[in-house]
Amino acid sequence: MRAAVAEPWHDVPVGLLDGRVTGLSGLSVSLSGMRDFTGVGDRVSIAGLDGRETEAEIVAFRGDTAIAMPYGSLEGIGSGCRATFRLFDQEQRRRRAGGTLTINASWQGRVIDPMGRPIDGKGPLAPGGEPRRLRAPPPEAALRARLGPRIDLGIRALNLFTTCREGQRLGLFAGSGVGKSTLMGMLARNTDCDVAVIALVGERGREVREFVEDDLGPEGLAKSVVVVATSDTSPLMRREAAYAAMAAAEYFRDQGKSVLMLMDSVTRFCQALREIGLSSGEPPATRGYPPSVFAELPRLLERAGPGLDERGLDDRGRKRRAGQITAMFSVLVEGDDHNEPVADAVRGILDGHVVLERRIAEAGRYPAVNVLRSLSRTVPGCNAAEENALIQDARADLSTWDDIQDMVRLGAYRTGNDARADRAIRVAPAIEEILKQSRSEKATIAESFHALRDVLGPPETA
Ligand SMILES: Nc1ncnc2c1ncn2[C@@H]1O[C@H](COP(=O)(O)OP(=O)(O)OP(=O)(O)O)[C@@H](O)[C@H]1O
Ligand SMILES: [Mg+2]
Repeated sequence: MRAAVAEPWHDVPVGLLDGRVTGLSGLSVSLSGMRDFTGVGDRVSIAGLDGRETEAEIVAFRGDTAIAMPYGSLEGIGSGCRATFRLFDQEQRRRRAGGTLTINASWQGRVIDPMGRPIDGKGPLAPGGEPRRLRAPPPEAALRARLGPRIDLGIRALNLFTTCREGQRLGLFAGSGVGKSTLMGMLARNTDCDVAVIALVGERGREVREFVEDDLGPEGLAKSVVVVATSDTSPLMRREAAYAAMAAAEYFRDQGKSVLMLMDSVTRFCQALREIGLSSGEPPATRGYPPSVFAELPRLLERAGPGLDERGLDDRGRKRRAGQITAMFSVLVEGDDHNEPVADAVRGILDGHVVLERRIAEAGRYPAVNVLRSLSRTVPGCNAAEENALIQDARADLSTWDDIQDMVRLGAYRTGNDARADRAIRVAPAIEEILKQSRSEKATIAESFHALRDVLGPPETA
């Protein structure tokens, strides 16, 4: 152990612990000299043969040997290289556990990596702000505020068929190339929120610029913080992208803001956890995913949602409002694979799901939401009775149309046989038209219901 030299961060370490690299295999490094003072989740710094420092995280112990994984690449690290751990007192250790991100409001409009470094070529980020724990626990369940009022997502298909409240968490289930990124860009631009935080986890590098410039656009970017770890980064970086984005969202939420959090994709986050778990010696269980993935996943998803219930009045005498994180997590589903373990786990944790379907995209209807398979668990509670009746009618018409459209197209159905079917034939194509929405179009909740009312007339069930 050595005495620490003062460093330019808030917490000054009380000492430095030196260890050595004793072995490397695959994605992990074995370190000696780390016992007694370090634990799982601690970050160590490894000096490569070229003098470069690589940050690594301890993911497991085997006897006295710590197993660590690097945030960057293992290139230039060999047996005997020095590993250093900064020792903090217990209080500092508690505050820093799992790493921190020092964020402030000026980060809106910027694209950063999971370590909080800018990667958009727009110069350094303004320093300052309080350090936020990357792996903060979710707010205490009993002290959490209730969901907020209805939130306007600016997209007709979602405003009508999966109406959401502030603080709600939804899964967006879709295959590749069905329109996730476009929909997420539309959500960031159109949603009536104060701040959007977007995590791009494991995307191809080329797609990041496309997303920021085309899907998000200058207007969407201005109110967003975008956290990126592309598919070529280490699994730790990809995992950290999700945590960093969540920490950023929590920072804004704790200021009482209405935050929209978009994560593309939670499947890639789980795949990163799988790589980390397997490298640290965990056994694969469900489809190669070790059990720790399904313990970790709810801990991340639960952090989205309402903040702590604020009591009392603010300085202007108004009732204090709890901040909210409304979240949309995308899940990759290929084909109709309902046994996919990540999709299964996510569906069970969240308060609703939106299903995008290739069949619909191929027919040219974007966003390709299958409204019959999509669901928000706060509906019908968040709508007026007349609105619920309208939606119920529309769902019934779409469902009937789904059953009979092949027959109608083949000429096997004769009008007049069934009143429900006749009505569906008349209104379903018009409802489909309402569900269509171009990338640049925005539709408020009121406009969405107005359009539906125009097609359906007064609700039958009201
Ligand atoms: N609202 C829309 N209007 C018109 N076209 C759209 C719309 N949404 C998606 N598309 C079309 O679908 C294509 C794929 O969309 P997008 O890149 O958003 O899909 P993705 O699911 O993110 O794909 P990947 O899995 O490759 O990331 C777009 O290039 C575009 O042609
Ligand atoms: Mg995409």
